Amino acid sequence: MEVIRIPRIMREISKELRFKGKSIGFIPTMGALHEGHLSLIRRAKEENDIVIVSIFVNPTQFAQGEDYEKYPRDVELDKEKLEALAIDYLFLPDVNSLYPEGYSTYVVVEGLSDKLCGIFRPGHFRGVATIVCKLFNIVKPLRAYFGQKDYQQSLIIRRMVEDLNFDIEIIVCPTVREQDGLAMSSRNLYLNEKERQSATVIYKALKEGERLLNKGEKPLDVKLKMHEILKNEPLIREIQYAGVYDPLTLEEVKERQNKYLLAVALKIGDTRLIDNLIVE
Ligand code: PAJ
Repeated sequence: MEVIRIPRIMREISKELRFKGKSIGFIPTMGALHEGHLSLIRRAKEENDIVIVSIFVNPTQFAQGEDYEKYPRDVELDKEKLEALAIDYLFLPDVNSLYPEGYSTYVVVEGLSDKLCGIFRPGHFRGVATIVCKLFNIVKPLRAYFGQKDYQQSLIIRRMVEDLNFDIEIIVCPTVREQDGLAMSSRNLYLNEKERQSATVIYKALKEGERLLNKGEKPLDVKLKMHEILKNEPLIREIQYAGVYDPLTLEEVKERQNKYLLAVALKIGDTRLIDNLIVE
């Protein structure tokens, strides 16, 4: 595995690889790698000649007062995990090389960015779309891999790729969970033992929502039931949203339809956690 820190050099390597006819699979991450990330990398390895992973904690997607400074960073441990998977390149840029003084261009995917997490994290998806657009231009992948764990993010990236005519296939992979159902996340590291235990209620609420929808219950009743379950967990400080949404528009769904997105975002202590399930 080769570590590349300079965007210009990464671009030249990718250009050369594409010129030679190699398929590049790309997995953008913010590091603190766990099995969720590694599952995307394994999938990319199966489907491409060359696999490139980026680690970059992107400042523009953190709102004022969020956890940018304390976001977990352990590049040495991450490198070991990537070496073990024998990826080809780790792209590890620093903030100044991607956002030099005078930087002033941003990508906004309108509409979808203002729903769900966008309501509680102003500017978040503008930062995500901007950095992913920049990374796509540098790495020039044929395929890029994202997790369903961040469902809204994957939808916004798909929209951006379509709208801006990127010639990149977006592949969304299933959410990897702990044994008790908690979706793996770098932010789980923030939880103390009691908080970690209480976080299992998220998956329980989603699974109960799924069961009720499959039974034919109305989305609005399902939402009420999910809130009831979550409110019974004393360590949950704030439920930001929990309910039944349209998987394409992210609008709340009130009547029965064919496919639903069940989604939850909440805070346990200072830690913000999200999760979702698709129900057909
Ligand atoms: P990060 O949170 O590090 O996640 C990188 C990728 O891993 C995302 O596509 C995310 O959906 C996926 N992922 C995270 N947890 C997962 C899990 N439990 N199962 C499956 N996939 C999982 O998402 C970001 O970074 C950033 O916003 C980024 C796209 C890199 C832009 O900065």
